[in-house]
Amino acid sequence: MAPLSASELKDILEWTIILARNAGKIMLEGSQAIQIAAASEDTGINEKKNSVDLVTEYDVKVEELVKKEIREKYPSFKFVGEETAAAGNRPPLTDEPTFCVDPIDGTTNFVHAFPFACISLGLIDEKRPVLGVIYNPFLDHLYTGIKGQGSYLTRPGVPPAKLPLHPARPLASLSQALLAIEWGSDRKASVLKPKADSFTRLAADTVANGGVEGGKMAHSLRSIGSAALNFAMVAQGGLDLYWEIGCWEWDVCAGIVIAQEAGGFVTGSRWSPHDGEVTEDILRGRKYLVVRGLAGGKGESALDAQKRIVKEFYETVDDVDIDINK
Ligand code: IPD
Ligand code: CA
Repeated sequence: MAPLSASELKDILEWTIILARNAGKIMLEGSQAIQIAAASEDTGINEKKNSVDLVTEYDVKVEELVKKEIREKYPSFKFVGEETAAAGNRPPLTDEPTFCVDPIDGTTNFVHAFPFACISLGLIDEKRPVLGVIYNPFLDHLYTGIKGQGSYLTRPGVPPAKLPLHPARPLASLSQALLAIEWGSDRKASVLKPKADSFTRLAADTVANGGVEGGKMAHSLRSIGSAALNFAMVAQGGLDLYWEIGCWEWDVCAGIVIAQEAGGFVTGSRWSPHDGEVTEDILRGRKYLVVRGLAGGKGESALDAQKRIVKEFYETVDDVDIDINK
């Protein structure tokens, strides 16, 4: 099968946006219902691998709706989704177009009524992310992107805006960065300790100033609680970097396209030089780092500036051993 053309992708995007907005309505109703139920005993919140890995009936309901709509509209397309994978079906990637979906990204926020949860609808073609839609119904923020066609933010009250929202700024070093990190749902010491040590190194001052060895004293660290929205915020230019170990392809697929189209550089575990193409091993590698579009300067290209920051980042943080399949 030939790769999807630019105009086919445009049509798919229009259709996917409608799907995302319909899913958003279910999320808003669900959020209200969960808060009402939380006042009584029956919350409808279930645990997956542990007590912080949450799923609600709305995650499943949204994924079922999305799967059904895709099957009807694009019967030849394959499907990868978080809840379908949780039920034991995570098919290998093929060259066929494949929707890659997180019905609710930021489920913990969703159940706590912290208004940063979204549906994340990515499309993979020939094993590369090519289209992304991220919709946060609580703020009515819609992020969209198509490979080679740019990415956009649509919000109430203002015309759709091309991303990034502002001209690219330079970034001299991590010490000037606002970074997003996430704690994730794997709370074993073997996973949490290297992450926490890395967060400390990113935030702390140098030893000479009473900090720690290798301290970078970045401007600050943030956790939005949704991988997709972290990617979107890097695309927008509100965050300089986002790093996470432990999320999955459905958390990041849409965000990768949106961030790349905004000039962002996406890579996976550790630093190995490449030009930012997201191959299958990065997409399914469960380790992600994204750096916003930077201004080059003084003989340094924008891409070289991003690679310099990635290198500095990976010299600062610890790697974490995780299973890429569970
Ligand atoms: C999670 C969120 C969270 C990230 C986790 C993801 P979920 O997805 O994106 O921010 O730290 O790694 O699994 O469970 O809310 O869909
Ligand atoms: Ca989810």
